Amino acid sequence: MSQPRVVLGVAGGIAAYKVVEVLRGLTEAGHDVTVVPTAAALNFVGEATWAALSAHPVATSVWANAHEVSHVKLGQQADCVVVAPATADLLARATHGIANDLLTNVLLTARCPIVLAPAMHTEMWQHPATQSNVATLRARGVIVLEPAAGRLTGADFGPGRLPDPVAIVAAVQDVVRRPPTADLSGRRVVISAGGTREIWDPVRFIGNISSGRQGVELARTAVSRGAKVTLVAAHLSVPAPAGVTLVSVSSADDLLAAMLAAATGADAIVMAAAVADFRPEAVATSKIKKPEGPADLSLKLSPTVDILVELVRRREGGLPVIVGFAAETAVDEHELVQLGRQKLARKGCDLLVVNEVGRQVVFGSEENEVTILGHEGSEVHLPRSSKAAISDAVWNAVVHEWKRA
Ligand code: CTP
Repeated sequence: MSQPRVVLGVAGGIAAYKVVEVLRGLTEAGHDVTVVPTAAALNFVGEATWAALSAHPVATSVWANAHEVSHVKLGQQADCVVVAPATADLLARATHGIANDLLTNVLLTARCPIVLAPAMHTEMWQHPATQSNVATLRARGVIVLEPAAGRLTGADFGPGRLPDPVAIVAAVQDVVRRPPTADLSGRRVVISAGGTREIWDPVRFIGNISSGRQGVELARTAVSRGAKVTLVAAHLSVPAPAGVTLVSVSSADDLLAAMLAAATGADAIVMAAAVADFRPEAVATSKIKKPEGPADLSLKLSPTVDILVELVRRREGGLPVIVGFAAETAVDEHELVQLGRQKLARKGCDLLVVNEVGRQVVFGSEENEVTILGHEGSEVHLPRSSKAAISDAVWNAVVHEWKRA
């Protein structure tokens, strides 16, 4: 297969320095990248940097190489155009079809997926003009990633930071690997990911080794298929994907509250988080000291609420479709499915994604082998696959449930 061709547009914002990492990530992942910086962008990062890292001449002007009509060719031949940072000005020009430099010409001629990674001050991002531009672009099928929140240039703090370069590269890879089908568009989905922590004194907790990778892949694939995604995240050890509404939680109780709040009006809920089944009955307010001499310490634990069961219990009508995950130790596939069926019946959800733990490492790994069980008896076995491929299969099963409803 030939290398996917990506045009990396860089608009004039200070976050341009972080986009050097995006370029490296794209080329290392095997993309053929042409960088199109705006004149303003070159004030932040010079032409030589882009040329050296992309191994291509940098296209800066509609007047350069006029005989090649590059403003038309670049857009037409690209498999994806990504702009990072997409400044407020760039978003406005893209929305209104203004073509006053090479990058905006490319955006008008491109017929491939377009990914925009905004970065600007919070006030500019939240301004009704920018928000209305973003809504228009999204309605046209442009993927506008949600900016990250945090410290901005200067002392200000809020949404407007460039999404993590790793997340921008992943968003491009997603659309290049599979042009968006948008079969989840108009749907709102809620996903829990990661592992909860139960505090028992100011410096100690009971946790688990879930990385959150499967939940993050579920969120990323749902975004690329057009869904509006809320990711309720408990201590992820991988970055959250771009384009989601992120709700960070810590304990099982926090997760329960966040899931109940997000569940209202959702079309699907996927419980991929590893939730503590027990929590310490009492939380010490000061650090528990080691006693003098040898001594045992016992912690009294009490059960947490089963969030999955609670979500099923509160559901009215057929929506949301509710998906659980189950980690089981079994001797063979037959026993695994049997244990999964029992859990599916116990939890009352629509779909259960069962994986075997014990013999194979699942937590933190890039791959997994699962069976998706449906409440009406369906059974889809996925041989060892990437967590992204498993996520796609889960969404296919959810789409099937929506059609049945
Ligand atoms: N789950 C939940 N709330 C809990 C415990 C688990 O919502 N307090 C959800 C998990 O997110 C997962 C599903 O229930 O989607 C199954 O989790 P699992 O740990 O396999 O099942 P348990 O109910 O804990 O049963 P057991 O550990 O006995 O197998």
